[in-house]
Parts: sequence; structure tokens; C-alpha cells
Amino acid sequence: MATDGNEMGINTRLAHSGNNPHDYFGFVNPPIVHASTVLYPNASVMAARSQKYTYGTRGTPTTDALAHAIDALEGSAGTIIVPSGLAAVTVPLLAFLSAGDHILIVDSVYHPTRNFADTMLKRLGVEVEYYDPHAGAGIASLIKPNTKVVFTESPASNTFEVQDVPAIAKAAHETGAIVMMDNTCATPLYFRPLDHGVDISIHAATKYPAGHSDVLLGTVSANANCWKQLCETFYTMGCCAGPDDVYQVLRGLRTMGVRLDHHQKSALSIATWLEGQPGVARVLHPALPSHPDHAVWKRDFSGSSGIFSIVLKGGGQRQQHAFLDALKIFGLGYSWGGYESLAVPVFLGDRTVAKGPYDGPLIRLQIGLEDVEDLKADILRGLEAAAAA
Ligand SMILES: Cc1ncc(COP(=O)(O)O)c(C=O)c1O
Repeated sequence: MATDGNEMGINTRLAHSGNNPHDYFGFVNPPIVHASTVLYPNASVMAARSQKYTYGTRGTPTTDALAHAIDALEGSAGTIIVPSGLAAVTVPLLAFLSAGDHILIVDSVYHPTRNFADTMLKRLGVEVEYYDPHAGAGIASLIKPNTKVVFTESPASNTFEVQDVPAIAKAAHETGAIVMMDNTCATPLYFRPLDHGVDISIHAATKYPAGHSDVLLGTVSANANCWKQLCETFYTMGCCAGPDDVYQVLRGLRTMGVRLDHHQKSALSIATWLEGQPGVARVLHPALPSHPDHAVWKRDFSGSSGIFSIVLKGGGQRQQHAFLDALKIFGLGYSWGGYESLAVPVFLGDRTVAKGPYDGPLIRLQIGLEDVEDLKADILRGLEAAAAA
């Protein structure tokens, strides 16, 4: 039974949404359809394309199962599935921007989003401007007659500022701009962008939905106003995802609630403990009462995930590298949302507004599913090495 109803608990919905087993002989999981060609029964059906599936780039029962599951979580009119989280950012931007348009992008955005805007969007004649993550309703003063898109990401990449998304959406809609949000950090379990006025919700499903550091995938979900244009661009660009990856993410969704709950608890426990550790100037985690945006986070979000950053007390790159090199359990690697803990040095040199000042170098931690006491011992090794560097 496919149960997409919002009245059910989140883990029930994650376990059953997307596909109806009885549509496919009762098998619990949907088939992984490897497809380019789809056959038509006769020439007139072919000419009219009047059957549900027409070609592999335009959807299969496998992609439909994941898209329906995401729609149920996001409350969206439709979802496209693309080959990476970065494609989930670039495809909607290409769908809604033309030469001469202006886009406002939050300054604390994921770096490759900024790179896409600074290179390809600019080359295509789009005017790109970055704004303060704390702009809130004040974004109205930056909106121009040609502003078509306001791009948000909250909590922010690496520094975890929380944006006042409802206030931004209200200001953007007054002049007809549309609002996009990279909601990868919270997942639709802890924040539903469309309920807060966002038009397009973006996810790197590579992270928590996939959950095992072995798949790249992105989803883009639109409200009824934006769905047609998003979907047409997706078909025009032919940027469909491979069936095995789509299936892996649907598989990951079934356990995402349980995993996220564990990530959340472990990360909060470690973040709280770190606030009292020598050598740590600040912990940048929006669910901590000490976080400057905690009140907005508490108003809008129903949970936090497994990533946050720490600011070392003084020092520079030498201390940052000493910390990272001392770690034995945390791997040094990009991405997050998998079962294993990771650490990366944070670089803020690309920012124009949200760049600090901070008391020392920043390190981003992704707290995996390992035992908290082991992770704390590993972090202590890092702090001791930084102090000795
Ligand atoms: C906030 C955010 N959005 C998008 C992406 C891109 O995802 P992918 O690695 O699947 O391209 C990432 C990856 O780290 C991310 O952190």
C-alpha cells in the first residue's frame, strides 16, 4: 500500500511512499527500469505520444517512485531527478533565468553554486549579486525590477547561518521574483521549504537520502506555478539520472528518518560538549542556544542534522592542519550525510559578506553513525595536536 498521507508519522511515510507494491505483482520494491527505448503499440499512439512512458529520458517507473516519494515529503506539485546535487542547483537556475535578469544569491552559499553563477550565469548575461544571510525582510532593498530569482540556502554551507526564509519569500513575491532554496542540510524531514513560501526546493540527495557515500543524485521539487517550466527545461536538457542511482536513493529514504535521528543526537551531544573544550572558540551549530540565529532556527526547523563547524581559539592554517592530521576516525573528505564521520578545513576566501571575523580557523565536522565516545576521543586528539602546533 502506498501511503503518502501527511497524517501519518514520518517514518511510516518514508517506509511506504513512492510506489504501490500491487502495481508490480506485489513486490515490495519497484523495478529498476533500465531504459532508453519504450515501444508503442501502433503508429497513432506513437504519433500522439499518448502513453504514460515515451522515452527513457522522460521518466520510468523507477524515477516516478522516487519523485512521488519526494513530492509527498516536500508537498510539491512535481519533482525532477538529476545526476548530482550540483545539477539540482544548476538546472532550475537555467530554467528560470535569461540574459538581462538579475539573481540574488546568499553569500554563504555552497561554493560550486557560486562558481556556476560567477562563470556560466555571468557568461549567459545574468547579473549576479550576493546578499547577507541575515538580510531577512531587508532583502526588499536589493530587489530590482529585473530580479527573477532569490536563491537561499539555510542553514548555510560551513558557517550555518539561518535565513529568515518566510520574510525573504514575502519580499521576493511582492515583485514577482521566485525563491529557490538549497534545503540539503535540513532535508524535508526538518524543513519543508514550500510551506514557508519557497517556490523551488533543491536537494543533494547524495547526502542523507543516499546515506552511504556511494551515490550522486539531486532532486528539485516545484510548486504548481513553477512545475511546468522546471519540467520542460529538464526534458530539454536531457539531464536524467541513471536507474541504479535513483533506486539506491529510494532505498536510502526508507531508513533516512532513523539515520537522521541518530546523526542529530550524536552531533548535538558532541557540539554541546565541544562548547566547553579548551582550544575551541565557538561551535557553529544552529540548534545550540548560543548560536546567534537559534531563535529563527527554532521557529522554522523541526530538527538538525549531523554537520556543524568549530572555530579554533586562535592560530591559522598550521593549527587547522594539525587538528585534521591527528584524526584517526574522521576521514578527510568532501561531502557529508553518509554513515561515516568526516572533517574538512573551511575556506571563506570566496565570500564577500558572510566572512567573519572568526577567532581562528574553522573546521567542519560531519558526525556519522559511529559511537559518540569514540568520536569525542578522536576530536580531543585533534584539539591536542592543534594546541601543540
Ligand atoms: C549544500 C549543498 N548543496 C549541493 C551539493 C552538491 O551535491 P553533489 O555532491 O551531489 O553534487 C552539496 C555537496 O556537498 C552541498 O553541500
